[in-house]
Amino acid sequence: MDDGRTSSLARTDLASATGVRAVSSDGAAVTGRALDCLAAGLLVARRGVIEYANPRAHALLGRALLVGTAFAELGLGTDVAASGEPARFELEIQPAGQPPRQLGFTISSCGDDPHGETRLVLFQDISQLATLRTERDRLLQLAAINAVLPSILHEIRNPIGAITTTIEVMIEEAPAATQADLHAILTVLRQLSLTLQGVGAVGRELRCDRPCVVDLPIEEAARVLEAKARSRGVALVCRVESMPLLQLDPAVLRAIVGNLVENALAATAAGGRVLVTAHYGGGVFRVRVRDNGRGMDPQTLAHATDLFFTTKPLGSGIGLSLCARAVQTAGGQLRIDSHVGLGTTVDIELPIASDR
Ligand SMILES: Nc1ncnc2c1ncn2[C@@H]1O[C@H](COP(=O)(O)OP(=O)(O)OP(=O)(O)O)[C@@H](O)[C@H]1O
Ligand SMILES: [Mg+2]
Repeated sequence: MDDGRTSSLARTDLASATGVRAVSSDGAAVTGRALDCLAAGLLVARRGVIEYANPRAHALLGRALLVGTAFAELGLGTDVAASGEPARFELEIQPAGQPPRQLGFTISSCGDDPHGETRLVLFQDISQLATLRTERDRLLQLAAINAVLPSILHEIRNPIGAITTTIEVMIEEAPAATQADLHAILTVLRQLSLTLQGVGAVGRELRCDRPCVVDLPIEEAARVLEAKARSRGVALVCRVESMPLLQLDPAVLRAIVGNLVENALAATAAGGRVLVTAHYGGGVFRVRVRDNGRGMDPQTLAHATDLFFTTKPLGSGIGLSLCARAVQTAGGQLRIDSHVGLGTTVDIELPIASDR
C-alpha cells in the first residue's frame, strides 16, 4: 500500500526495526505488504510526529489521516522504560460514531535509530479481554464473599439461637411485669434471625422446585424493618395482594425485598414514605419498592447494581448487585427509576407460571 499515508523513509526503517526482512528484490514493497496485513495497528513516530500508520491503525483509531499527526494529539506518550524495555499501557477510545473500545499499546524505541527519536507503537483491540478481566475480578470477589460468609453467619446465628431459647424459657417463669419486656426482646431476636437468613439467601437461586407462599415473606421483610422506619420518622407502607403459590424461594424473596427496603429507608428523610407493593397477574410476578427520598444522580444510577459500588460510608455495595443477579438469573428483570430529590422506584418483574 502506498496511498500517501506512508513515507518511504519510515518504511525502510520499519524493515530493520520490526525485523521483517525482505527476500525479494523489492524489499520495501514486501515489508509494506506484510505490515498492511498485520492484525495489529502499527505506528512509527519520529520526534513525536507519526510518519507511518498501517491500515489496521487507521481502523482501530477510527481516523483516516494519521501521518503528520502529533503523538500527543492521540493521547499517547512517547516514553519507553529507562531500561529500554517497551512501555505498555491501555487506553479507552471512542471513534466518532462507533462504540468505545479498549486498546492495548506497546511502545518501543527503534533499534537502528542512532538518536533514539523513533518510536514504534504496536496496538490491538483488547475490549473483549478487558470485559473478561472485569468478569474474572467480579467472580473472584463473589468467590471471596461466598467463602467467608457462611462462617460469619454461623458465628452470629448460633449465639442468637442460644439467647432466643434462653429468653423463651425465661418468659414461662418470669413475673407478668417482666414478661412483656421479654416478649419485646424475643420479637427483636426473631427479626434479627430472619434478617440473617436473608443475608445468606440473597446470593442463592430465587426459583425453587416447590410451590411456596410468596406474599407472606414480602410482608415479613417489610415488618422486620418497621421499627427502623419508625425511628427514622419514615412511613413504611406494605400493600401485598394475595397471590397463588409460586416456585420462588421465600427466604431469597424476603432477602431481596429486605435489601430494597433497607436502601429506600436509608435514602428517605423523616416525613418521607416507602411503599412496597406486590401482585401476580398475567403470568408475571411483580414487586415494587418506591421511596420519595433523595434519589440517585445519573452516575450513581449507572453503577448502582455494580458489585461493591456504594455511596455509603459504611455500605458494602453488595445488596443491589446480588438482588439484580438473583432476579436476572431467575429470568426476570430488576429496573431502577430514580431522580435526584424526587425518589427511587425499584421494579422487579418475573414471568413465572402458577399452579392456579
Ligand atoms: N432507594 C435508593 N435511593 C437512593 N440511592 C440508592 C437507593 N438504593 C440504592 N441506592 C444507591 O445504590 C448504592 C448501591 O446500593 P447497594 O444496596 O448495592 O449497596 P449499599 O446499600 O451501599 O450497601 P449494602 O451492601 O450494605 O446494601 C447505594 O450506596 C446508594 O448510593
Ligand atoms: Mg443496600
